[in-house]
Amino acid sequence: MTIKVILALSDEKEKSAVRKVLAEMGSPKLEIIGSFENPEELVRLAASAAPAVVLLSAQFAREATIPLVERLTANPLVQVIVLLLKEDFNIARQFILSGAVDALPFEQIPSELPKSLESAFKRAQKLVRENYPRPSQIGQILVFYGPKGGVGTSLLVTNLAVALSAYQPEPVVLVDLNLQFGAVTTLLNLRPEVTIASLAQRFQGELDFEFLQSFLVNHEESNLKILAAPSRPELSELVTTFLVEKTFQVLRNNFAYIIVDTPTVLQDTTLAAFDIADQILLVTALDLLAIRNSQLVLEMLRKLYPSERIKLVLNRSNARFSGLNPEQVEEFLGISILAQIPSDGQVAVTSVNEGVPFVLSSPNSPLAQSIFKLASIIAGDRFNPPVPVIERAQENVLKRVVKFLLGEE
Ligand SMILES: Nc1ncnc2c1ncn2[C@@H]1O[C@H](COP(=O)(O)OP(=O)(O)OP(=O)(O)O)[C@@H](O)[C@H]1O
Ligand SMILES: [Mg+2]
Repeated sequence: MTIKVILALSDEKEKSAVRKVLAEMGSPKLEIIGSFENPEELVRLAASAAPAVVLLSAQFAREATIPLVERLTANPLVQVIVLLLKEDFNIARQFILSGAVDALPFEQIPSELPKSLESAFKRAQKLVRENYPRPSQIGQILVFYGPKGGVGTSLLVTNLAVALSAYQPEPVVLVDLNLQFGAVTTLLNLRPEVTIASLAQRFQGELDFEFLQSFLVNHEESNLKILAAPSRPELSELVTTFLVEKTFQVLRNNFAYIIVDTPTVLQDTTLAAFDIADQILLVTALDLLAIRNSQLVLEMLRKLYPSERIKLVLNRSNARFSGLNPEQVEEFLGISILAQIPSDGQVAVTSVNEGVPFVLSSPNSPLAQSIFKLASIIAGDRFNPPVPVIERAQENVLKRVVKFLLGEE
């Protein structure tokens, strides 16, 4: 998400100090909107540009700057940082009481403004995620399916959903349709009191979001919402295809991304999810049995759905000793690979055993970076991970090449 920074500065020295800080921050997600002289114009623009951060000189509207801050912050998606000519605790306090998120004296602009902006950006993103009205927006349903058990579908899907939720402003829900042996809550170290089975027990044919919401579990670290699988295998029988269809219809109107994990066994509930999916993502691996099962499933899916709806994700794409490579897989299956996820036993197993998604605990790892790349394919530039993805990986490779050429490695 691009955050707009609106400059409402009246002092030349202030303007150049602020521009220097913004240039050094150099984030591509930052859009600077020019200088303003007129408070009315500023109020109008801030409201239409929201979410936005306004950098406002304390003397911008002379004695009327405090009421101006009140007017600007009447819109909760507008964050105001006030710049004071000099340090003055009382004035700073008045601005903060009128709604500014910070008030900085001129001499602290170089050292404190970057932190202040970062925190205002985070707050704006959080507000958008929690409060932004989503009138009639239709979310994307992405169903992941592993044609062979154990290829890593649940780990991949869980980390993707967490990454999308944590680093992208729109709301995300993860549905665990592996109704007998759901893994999602274990991977997130959650012990849910409500699951899709409790929803099924209370379901009487009608479903609205308020009711469905009470069966969603929150993953606090990422704000991801989860519809958990039943706590015991025998409870899976309570969940009907009718309930699954209704659930997706409601979720689609309230979340931007509905990510779905499924079991390898092709149950009727999995087929119901395929039917409603915007994309079906097959997860496979460089192993002959996984490839053969992928071929069988692809044959089936191609008969039922348009081919642009079907995608392929290759897990453990760099596995050695496989005797197969990604290009051979693409050629054999007649479909190009949307994303490749490398194998990293240490990061994966630590993440599974600790119940902390690796996209949060090891964002620099190639494994997390590959998930960020997939999230960018899905969400475009609304996805804004903590570590700039590909650039960093390439930079490291470049550094290594240079070191190698210089004989340092
Ligand atoms: N890229 C990877 N690198 C290393 N290990 C991985 C990778 N992906 C998955 N694994 C490991 O594979 C194991 C199985 O993963 P997971 O449970 O996600 O697979 P699954 O396909 O969902 O299995 P199931 O068929 O039981 O639903 C996990 O222990 C995980 O640590
Ligand atoms: Mg699984």
